[in-house]
Amino acid sequence: MLSATARTKAPAASQAARLAKVALASTQTASNPQAGLRLRLVATQYCHGCRSFSTTPVSQLKDFFPAKDTHLISTTPPAWPHPGYTMEEMKAVVPAHRKPRTFGDWVAWKTVRFARYCMDKATGMDREQQQTDKKNPTTAVEAQKPLTEAQWLIRFVFLESIAGVPGMVGGMLRHLGSLRRMKRDNGWIETLLEESYNERMHLLTFMKMCEPGWFMKLMIIGAQGVFFNGMFVMYLLNPKIVHRFVGYLEEEAVHTYTRSIKEIEDGHLPRWTDPQFRIPDIAVQYWRMPEGHQTMRDLILYIRADEAGHRGVNHTFGNLNQREDPNPFVSKFKDNKERPNPSLKTAGFERDEVV
Ligand SMILES: [Fe+2]
Ligand SMILES: [Fe+2]
Repeated sequence: MLSATARTKAPAASQAARLAKVALASTQTASNPQAGLRLRLVATQYCHGCRSFSTTPVSQLKDFFPAKDTHLISTTPPAWPHPGYTMEEMKAVVPAHRKPRTFGDWVAWKTVRFARYCMDKATGMDREQQQTDKKNPTTAVEAQKPLTEAQWLIRFVFLESIAGVPGMVGGMLRHLGSLRRMKRDNGWIETLLEESYNERMHLLTFMKMCEPGWFMKLMIIGAQGVFFNGMFVMYLLNPKIVHRFVGYLEEEAVHTYTRSIKEIEDGHLPRWTDPQFRIPDIAVQYWRMPEGHQTMRDLILYIRADEAGHRGVNHTFGNLNQREDPNPFVSKFKDNKERPNPSLKTAGFERDEVV
């Protein structure tokens, strides 16, 4: 699949946590101006933009999930190390839309669009100003009114808290199905669980930048309750539709991140382009982001490439025989044929291309 690029030795998580605590305990940031700036940026964003979503006073802003300091453990590496991307691979990602071909596809797509509509309503986005090209709602990346950093973070946190659910449900149900039927799964489970793990890393990264208030937390809990159970029942009834649904959800994610990258490049998000702005250490470590490529734009390029991978994988899974076909993305092919790369195959692979 995708190859790893240059590696960087990131600071230890425990050191980052200590820096964060120091910066919070005192307004004096002379000893480490960057750590202080990052926390102030967090606080500013969260005051101005997350109004209806954040109620915690800035003074109570804390470092979430600081690294646990124990007698014996220094660090806990990610369970699934990230494969890494080259800059060319990340820049080659484009928003795209696979036209629905069956009734099931249409249901999946309309469900995603309805969820998008509800999210826009709930977050108070003016839909007229957010969509300039109504004919191509999943690929147009120019909006009349750019969002602020805080509005983007609301979108990212909500999107990522939802995106981590389907892979876990699919992986869990396929795992149980394999036990129940006493049959091999042929490589789907690991890819699905890794997808949900990767989505959770996206969420944890954004959580380091914006603390949601009680209203947003309530919405996330409610959405997860509805979404998990909906996914569970639908995956039992028709897993193909669920994979198609996730394919369309990932189309939305690629679209969202492409638009935010454009707004960064167009200079609409000055806090994120401030040379002093530091992305969270957790992100630098997970994606092994090389020195000199650790800006917010770089981070979103990595995340968008992940979403493009999920888009290709799930659209492909939606084309396969759910019971019999092996997972082509972890399989070895005959005649030294190369393993398919889902990232740039926007509509996924047809069954006869990969099985
Ligand atoms: Fe994500
Ligand atoms: Fe995703």
